[in-house]
Amino acid sequence: MTVTEASAPGKIILFGEHAVVYGQPAIAAPVSQVRARAWVEDADAAAYAGAYAPAPAGSGVCLHLTNLDYHYTLSEAPADDPFAAAIRLLQQEAGVQTLPPLSITIHSDIPIASGLGSGAATAAALLRALARHLGLDAFASDAQVSRLAFAVEQLHHGTPSGIDNTVVAYEKPVYFVRQQPQNRIEPFTVASPLSLLIADTGVSSSTKTVVSDVRRQWQADPARLDALFARCGQIADQARQAIEAGDIAQVGALMNQNQELLRQMTVSSPALEHLITAALSAGAIGAKLSGAGRGGNMIALIAADAAPPVRAALLAAGARAVLASVIGA
Ligand code: PMV
Repeated sequence: MTVTEASAPGKIILFGEHAVVYGQPAIAAPVSQVRARAWVEDADAAAYAGAYAPAPAGSGVCLHLTNLDYHYTLSEAPADDPFAAAIRLLQQEAGVQTLPPLSITIHSDIPIASGLGSGAATAAALLRALARHLGLDAFASDAQVSRLAFAVEQLHHGTPSGIDNTVVAYEKPVYFVRQQPQNRIEPFTVASPLSLLIADTGVSSSTKTVVSDVRRQWQADPARLDALFARCGQIADQARQAIEAGDIAQVGALMNQNQELLRQMTVSSPALEHLITAALSAGAIGAKLSGAGRGGNMIALIAADAAPPVRAALLAAGARAVLASVIGA
């Protein structure tokens, strides 16, 4: 019996997090070596890896979240379950009234609540695998997977910008602007590859909480926050030009400027600052937090041969894990 598998990568935001929610441009890139995966198979023949007992006929759709060792059926899913929401959304959009008995396994090696887009990636992997398994190929395209994953994120995060689902569904570096009636999504040329180290503070952080907190600041003092967001947008535009021109020194300088604005939005944290200082002292060209902040991951731009000392400095400063990623390789 066929198993339909799909996966989606993690992501980093290079420039413009938070400001992107308010319509400013941002730049993000996939991190392909950490991935979320979903496997869908007909439940009455479920024998996937022999890991789970086949669902008895008639028990409907069973979900297996292997990271959490959590197993449940669609009918008993809690109201706020994002995977149940994704499945129901696809059913509704595709006009599928009843699903056949299915066994759905989801596994992710993207750290959760760390700014690497694990929520969007797990939703995208599930949506793509399920659409393909059901023969709904029109819903398995990058654009459709991105659109549906966005709808799932909206249920959980309130006001997501749409950048996470876009990057993980298309798996390409993108220049992104949230706008009506359609977001601006532009791939761009990376003239000279960007070598990054991505370091985890080990502090988990809720995107929803941090985004709401920035919103409260904006409501209290719109002029100040709008000015910060506009400056982030200008930096993202300048960064795109620098990336397209292969000017790595300028990209690094702009990362440092973006980080200063994120500090002023109060979304940095002592653990992030500690890692940023360690990376810059060890020779990184630029460093900033990535994602919602207050924890999660930071990114350091390095010369291609500078990884060992910067990695060592990040680990010595307490990084929980350090990933290497090259954008535009
Ligand atoms: O923390 P993450 O990986 O979910 O990134 C959030 C990025 C924000 O700009 C803070 C929010 C958004 O929806 O774009």
